[in-house]
Amino acid sequence: MSNKKINVAVLGATGAVGQVFTWMLSRHPWFNLTAVIASERRVGHTYSESVHWLLPFDFPPELHDVRIQAYDPDALKAMDVRFVFSALPAEVASDIEKDLRGRGFNVFSNAASLRYEKNIPILIPEANPEQLDWVPSQGYPTIGSVVTNANCATTGLAVALAPLKKYGIKEISVSSYQSISGAGYPGLSALDISGNVIPYIGGEEEKVEKEIKKILDINPAVYAYCIRVPVIFGHMESVWVEFEQEVDVEDVIRDWNEFKGFPHLPSSPVQPIVYSDEVRFPQSKLAFWGEPRGMVVYTGRVKKQARKIGFVLLVNNIVKGAAGGSIQNAELFAEKFGLRK
Ligand SMILES: NC(=O)c1ccc[n+]([C@@H]2O[C@H](COP(=O)([O-])OP(=O)(O)OC[C@H]3O[C@@H](n4cnc5c(N)ncnc54)[C@H](OP(=O)(O)O)[C@@H]3O)[C@@H](O)[C@H]2O)c1
Repeated sequence: MSNKKINVAVLGATGAVGQVFTWMLSRHPWFNLTAVIASERRVGHTYSESVHWLLPFDFPPELHDVRIQAYDPDALKAMDVRFVFSALPAEVASDIEKDLRGRGFNVFSNAASLRYEKNIPILIPEANPEQLDWVPSQGYPTIGSVVTNANCATTGLAVALAPLKKYGIKEISVSSYQSISGAGYPGLSALDISGNVIPYIGGEEEKVEKEIKKILDINPAVYAYCIRVPVIFGHMESVWVEFEQEVDVEDVIRDWNEFKGFPHLPSSPVQPIVYSDEVRFPQSKLAFWGEPRGMVVYTGRVKKQARKIGFVLLVNNIVKGAAGGSIQNAELFAEKFGLRK
């Protein structure tokens, strides 16, 4: 363990998002996973016996005997934890995350409960790194901070639109085809989702419509349908965008190919958006492709009709759309506020 690493904790570590956190943090070059926390019923049990491992690769051996701890901010202070990653349900996240901020912790949250508060960024490094400038107005560094990431479907949309924002976005119509893991674990009943498509995900369409505006600081008309499909990982989205300016298919493909983001951050891909003109691309089964795995947004099927550009995208909902996005946010935070010195 290097002294230069920042000590971090994960709240909600046994859930679908929580296990992506522990997997990515178990060997992170900047962060030292110091505390793994879940609900009271898990406290004292080992992580390996408590978690139902969903990820399509091996359980990290270094986490095998780690004990699940109770939520105790004083204990986190004593362990010199500075960053807390939250994968808590929204109902419990709000009070806990505000309490942690007040006690000097920097919280990186996946929950929706604080996303819409003034001065709390919905941060996606590729789309809006400038929102980190809001953090001092929360009281940081006198107290801590809360930085959220977006709803998983919105994340893919925001990354794909970030390099196209310069054309002026007038209208967005998006239909998402969202995987089961988006509902957490155990999530939906097998009887409800097996061989079935469900045309409604509670609250999801409102989140997409609201969050894309805050993230990209734009005010287009947004029309969203969010649909649950029987796929385990990865949200696909079909998108139509109307721009203020004349935009061609070639402009969009060039902008995606040239888009770089923050390739020096450990959890950033060298190329955040990967486009292919192969008509069968992208597909949900590619959700864990890329390096780091699950962090690339894939695009394809670009076409132009009248003044609108259409395309299809794939985002890994639990990695880039959740825990991986939070870790990338924490990396940008650590760099911006000089915490790695
Ligand atoms: N799944 C996604 O694709 C996705 C994407 C973006 C954002 N999110 C958001 O991320 C958060 C986590 O989602 P998830 O899908 O990982 O959910 P999940 O699978 O249901 O996991 C929830 C986690 O929170 C813990 N927990 C539940 N109630 C608690 C309480 N009262 N006190 C302390 N811990 C408690 C659970 O611990 P136990 O195991 O001990 O019950 C579990 O570790 C949610 O806010 C969700 O909206 C999810």
